[in-house]
Amino acid sequence: MPGHEIPGSIPRPKHIAIIMDGNGRWAYRQHLPRVAGHRRGAEVVREMVQACAENGIPHLTLFAFSTENWRRPPLEVRLLMNLFRLLLRREIRKLHDNGVRLRIVGDRDSLEPDLQEMIRGAESLTAGNRRLHLNLAVNYGGRWDIVQASRKAVLELRAAGEDPGHLSEERIAAHLSLADTPNPDLLIRTGGEQRISNFLVWQLAYTEFYFTDTLWPDFGRESLEVALRSFGQRQRRFGRTGDQILDGSCASE
Ligand code: IPE
Ligand code: IPE
Ligand code: MG
Repeated sequence: MPGHEIPGSIPRPKHIAIIMDGNGRWAYRQHLPRVAGHRRGAEVVREMVQACAENGIPHLTLFAFSTENWRRPPLEVRLLMNLFRLLLRREIRKLHDNGVRLRIVGDRDSLEPDLQEMIRGAESLTAGNRRLHLNLAVNYGGRWDIVQASRKAVLELRAAGEDPGHLSEERIAAHLSLADTPNPDLLIRTGGEQRISNFLVWQLAYTEFYFTDTLWPDFGRESLEVALRSFGQRQRRFGRTGDQILDGSCASE
């Protein structure tokens, strides 16, 4: 997908994905418990949602809890789950009033039943909103996503009496968590690490990456602007040559 182009302006991403990393280190530096970093991080989420809505960026996907984060100390896991509860309880009305559609992506079956119930409520309340599509990845893993989508695609083939050899990229992609959303144009990872950590491994195939040392709790509107400027300067080729792009060939996947 090409950037979102307004004549005379730099291309803007239609979909930003963010690996929000560095909460723990932010807290250590302030001599605070790790959970203080997560709390501050949740405030930055609020600010980013607002900034994306104001900048006309229609899709935002945030990595909040990975399938590997269950390996953390049980207390930290419990506190993180409580933070999601708080977000769903306290923020959902405001998100709804601001035209935000909230969806949780990930394997929700292993979340606690009350949390699953809150997720269902929040998703159905905001289902009709279109200003900003906010996807929160909770208990999400890119490999999990590919496996669950492949299973569904195989079952579909079998039900249609088709040969499993007909399994294709399109059929798998149709069942991925963000199937109805354009692939991310820009991935931002805060906190200095330069890795994917099992985020949207399929969907990031042609995404532009932006890594910053800024810790997530310190990330703000200006940091987002810097990332957007960097994105605006990239030439997205999708396998073509630079000359083809300059000649006006459509720059899309
Ligand atoms: C990201 O911050 C939040 C989650 C993974 C839930 P971290 O908690 O990973 O912070 P660091 O990497 O330890 O600083
Ligand atoms: C990635 O951060 C997951 C989230 C931001 C939710 P981690 O802090 O878990 O990643 P690693 O373990 O350093 O790769
Ligand atoms: Mg981390």
